[in-house]
Amino acid sequence: MNVLGIETTCDETAASVVMPGEDGRGRILSNEVLSQIAEHAAYGGVVPEIAARAHVEVLDRLVARALDRAGMSLSQVDGIAVAAGPGLIGGVLIGLVTAKTLSLVARKPLVAVNHLEAHALTARLTDGIGFPYLLLLASGGHTQLVAVKGVGDYVRLGTTVDDAIGEAFDKVAKLLGLGYPGGPEVERMAETGNPERFALPRPMLGRREPNFSLSGLKTALRIEAERLAPLSSADVADLCAGFQAAVVDVVVDRVRVALREFGSIAGHPTALVAAGGVAANGAIRRALTTQANEAGLAFVAPPLSLCGDNGAMIAWAGIERLRLGLVDDLTAPARARWPF
Ligand code: KG4
Ligand code: ZN
Repeated sequence: MNVLGIETTCDETAASVVMPGEDGRGRILSNEVLSQIAEHAAYGGVVPEIAARAHVEVLDRLVARALDRAGMSLSQVDGIAVAAGPGLIGGVLIGLVTAKTLSLVARKPLVAVNHLEAHALTARLTDGIGFPYLLLLASGGHTQLVAVKGVGDYVRLGTTVDDAIGEAFDKVAKLLGLGYPGGPEVERMAETGNPERFALPRPMLGRREPNFSLSGLKTALRIEAERLAPLSSADVADLCAGFQAAVVDVVVDRVRVALREFGSIAGHPTALVAAGGVAANGAIRRALTTQANEAGLAFVAPPLSLCGDNGAMIAWAGIERLRLGLVDDLTAPARARWPF
């Protein structure tokens, strides 16, 4: 089974062909990603209209290249999966209309994939793990702790009451005059900083529900930055290190609470899994690895290339759904919001 996956929900245009491997994992035959970062950088965030236009300009060629690199033609794929949301609606529409057209012309089944579900299932593509597992899904738009019990069977244990973790990284970067996207910039600056110079809050620490809150931490950091202005590069490094250390403490504490709740909801987890762009953060990965080991669990996070948005995760979610006979038709809607 070869599935073409298309992703256009945010600022990455991506197309990929994936087939199931013999070991339960997926085999990625091609994985083309074109980032629009340069187009949005001047605005310090993603501009929806610019994003939609950029997807239109490159998607057809990107799909052709993904098929080409996989060594196949459209007639040789067994399904066309597309992220039908949640995301910026202009971009989602472009991916969805493209996928519907290809599906109609080539007479291939269409699978409308939830972008978050695709992030959630990536650990099965890369590591072939079984259900159930505890997922920390953290990106620019979402922060959730989820019990993943099966394909389409997800129980949300906690979420953020304000900013997403990636969003907080992006806002802190902007505040400190660093580039966009902020996560990698803040992480790079934090490497040389002193995490203990500033006493930053750890919101939600110790709370019984595994929810997150980031806005108080961001505000505390802004107050320190304003007090010190103009900032030296050592100040910026220390603020980044302090912020990241606070986020790590909060994440570990919230995961601990979620792990405690997990058993009564889904039984014994096979693994602790991180997904979404924030899963690329080395400090968070290291902390979660230690935490998982202490709990006797494997820690699974996608390789960096599959943490951010990509077509392979969409193709893989398409494979998972097709195997269960879950297909969509041409009435599948584009969704700006789509809880999973
Ligand atoms: O999953 P993703 O590529 O797109 C969304 O669906 O949002 O996630 C992008 C987010 C951005 O907010 C970015 O700053 C964050 O992930 N991110 C990071 C790192 N790399 C990307 N956050 C912290 N540390 C990183 N190394
Ligand atoms: Zn994403």
